[in-house]
Amino acid sequence: MKVLIVGGGGREHAIAVSMKKSKRVDRLYCVPGNAGIAQIAECDPSIGVMEFDRIVAYAKEKAVDLVFVAPDDPLVGGLVDVLKAEGFRVFGPDKKAAILEGSKAFSKDLMKKYQIPTAQYETFDDPQKALVYLETAKFPIVLKADGLALGKGVLICNTKEEAMAGVKEIMLDKHFGSAGNRMVIEEFMTGREVSVLSFVDGKTIRIMSSAQDHKRAKDGDQGLNTGGMGNFSPSPFYTEEVDEFCKKYIYQATVDAMAAEGRPFCGVIFFGLMLTPNGPRVLEYNARFGDPEAQVVLPRMKNDIMDVIDACIDGTLDQVDLQFEDNAAVCVVLASDGYPVSYKKGFVISGLEKFDGKDDYYCFHAGTKQTADGIVTNGGRVLGITATGEDLKTARAKAYEATQWVDFSNKYMRHDIGKAIDEA
Ligand code: AMP
Ligand code: GLY
Repeated sequence: MKVLIVGGGGREHAIAVSMKKSKRVDRLYCVPGNAGIAQIAECDPSIGVMEFDRIVAYAKEKAVDLVFVAPDDPLVGGLVDVLKAEGFRVFGPDKKAAILEGSKAFSKDLMKKYQIPTAQYETFDDPQKALVYLETAKFPIVLKADGLALGKGVLICNTKEEAMAGVKEIMLDKHFGSAGNRMVIEEFMTGREVSVLSFVDGKTIRIMSSAQDHKRAKDGDQGLNTGGMGNFSPSPFYTEEVDEFCKKYIYQATVDAMAAEGRPFCGVIFFGLMLTPNGPRVLEYNARFGDPEAQVVLPRMKNDIMDVIDACIDGTLDQVDLQFEDNAAVCVVLASDGYPVSYKKGFVISGLEKFDGKDDYYCFHAGTKQTADGIVTNGGRVLGITATGEDLKTARAKAYEATQWVDFSNKYMRHDIGKAIDEA
């Protein structure tokens, strides 16, 4: 079978590596891809993920049997619908289901309507009404731009003044563009965060092993929010009790709610959970694999990924027994210093060959590009260095060891990925 992956980061590289392991995949394609993906798939770096016409033309030219749409923007923008209308077999939610990630107001209203545990909230279209609401609100409080904002449209405000400035930033100054036409203001919650990814076929859900992200740029969870600076799987804080609660009140309830709304979800639902003193609560939904979550979860999955993808598309996920290795994985992101604000690109990366032939180590490319001088940095997040091990501590030691194998100018990483493991 010939498969096309849409996307070009570490997540897509991890998906490509999983697909490459499948006996059923003869040829892999990826747009735009990156230098790492290009080692196992044919890529066209000139095609952007929002260039739907060019993606359709490429899929036709290569006569692919399946398209996997990985990033949020094309999912929310309806690429799956466009490809399906052209007769392609596609993995990923269509536009009306991807709204689960595309609109925070939609997802909050869904949770309220179907009694799925989440923070209390109000939605605002009018900044004046938001300001009036803040007069009597409790602080800290959380402001969220409704639409997609690269994971940055969330402001945690400790005082009324901060929150008022936040309303201005989101709704009036439009810092996050049209994502800020509406806003959710919600109760501030405390607790550990866990990411739980799942496969969904419209009615059945299968949960993958848990993970914990590190969203802030700097050690000690300081600095700005990023797409994720590293993570580990499984989370020791995702206990059986938590799992039981989520199975009872969150996972299937979400899938059923989407179906009941006439928006059956086929693809990956990512549950961003907070383990509060009052039990697990949904922080957010994503309609896709997380990045770097995919980099620690997929290397631990025992199933042939193509079997699971097929089951999601065909509505036969109830017949799949999803299994994960009884081990652990840690991913440390090597970024370009200055990420997520401003950073330089184009530095030559050395040492990549040291990963060749090493079973427990993965060097997932995020922002890289092949040039005449070799592979160079081409983004804020450059590489995801992942290692598996018998337990989290072993995996962490191996991942950090491997971060030393590669080098490039302005190489930056957090040194405390997985620190929480010591507190478990
Ligand atoms: P989101 O994009 O909704 O996941 O939010 C990004 C980050 O903001 C989360 O990973 C949390 O760390 C934080 N956050 C979001 N909502 C809340 C909340 N209600 N209470 C506390 N922290 C939150
Ligand atoms: N790592 C978080 C995300 O992919 O949204």
